[in-house]
Amino acid sequence: MEHIEPLIAPSILAADFARLADEAAAVADAVDWLHVDVMDNHFVPNLTIGLPVVESLRRATDVPLDCHLMIDDPDRWAIGYAEAGAYNVTFHAEATDDPVALARRLRAAGSKAGLAIDRDTLIEPYLDLLPEFDTLLVMTIKAGFGGQQFLPELLDKVRAVKAARGELSVRIEVDGGINADTIEQAAQAGADAFVAGTAIYGAEDPAAAARALRERARAAAS
Ligand code: DX5
Ligand code: ZN
Repeated sequence: MEHIEPLIAPSILAADFARLADEAAAVADAVDWLHVDVMDNHFVPNLTIGLPVVESLRRATDVPLDCHLMIDDPDRWAIGYAEAGAYNVTFHAEATDDPVALARRLRAAGSKAGLAIDRDTLIEPYLDLLPEFDTLLVMTIKAGFGGQQFLPELLDKVRAVKAARGELSVRIEVDGGINADTIEQAAQAGADAFVAGTAIYGAEDPAAAARALRERARAAAS
């Protein structure tokens, strides 16, 4: 099996929202994507940031933006993020009746398309849809808040996606509780894109923390 380089995506949810341009610059040379958690106080209880912040961030950094929409009605809102220049737009399977139609619209609007699977959602109904997506985000917590504890049993979903992926280039992304202690098991299960908020922005040197995570993921996958 061809070796897939791990992607590291710091979540700005754990960064200082008043200094986002600086926080992006602090990790720019060490990471692949910036993970942007959009929460609407409906799909999840938490409320974070939305389109205007993504538009500003897009102008402030060259790091590709990986937008994770934890919102109701992504059919209405997701395309705006693609048009704002997001590299990848991931919406939740639980929030739409027609994920394939939305993925096609996202790709037509110029972004990659991602599908997120929350803690309590089975992966099996979505395995046939992999050709329609560029990223499949398996939550390793219940979506909604940073700083939660990693749930290793959810890696069974990562294994299922990996088995179903075949030759497809879809990335398997994990999000929630990823740190130096948990990234290896996620990589061994087959994840190849890693979101980390607390473990990167909570560290004294976020770039060094990101590099260390990458090394651990690489070593575990090989
Ligand atoms: C939570 C978000 C995550 C969050 C991860 O719903 O989707 O991206 O920022 O934070 P940590 O890495 O602290 O678990
Ligand atoms: Zn996220």
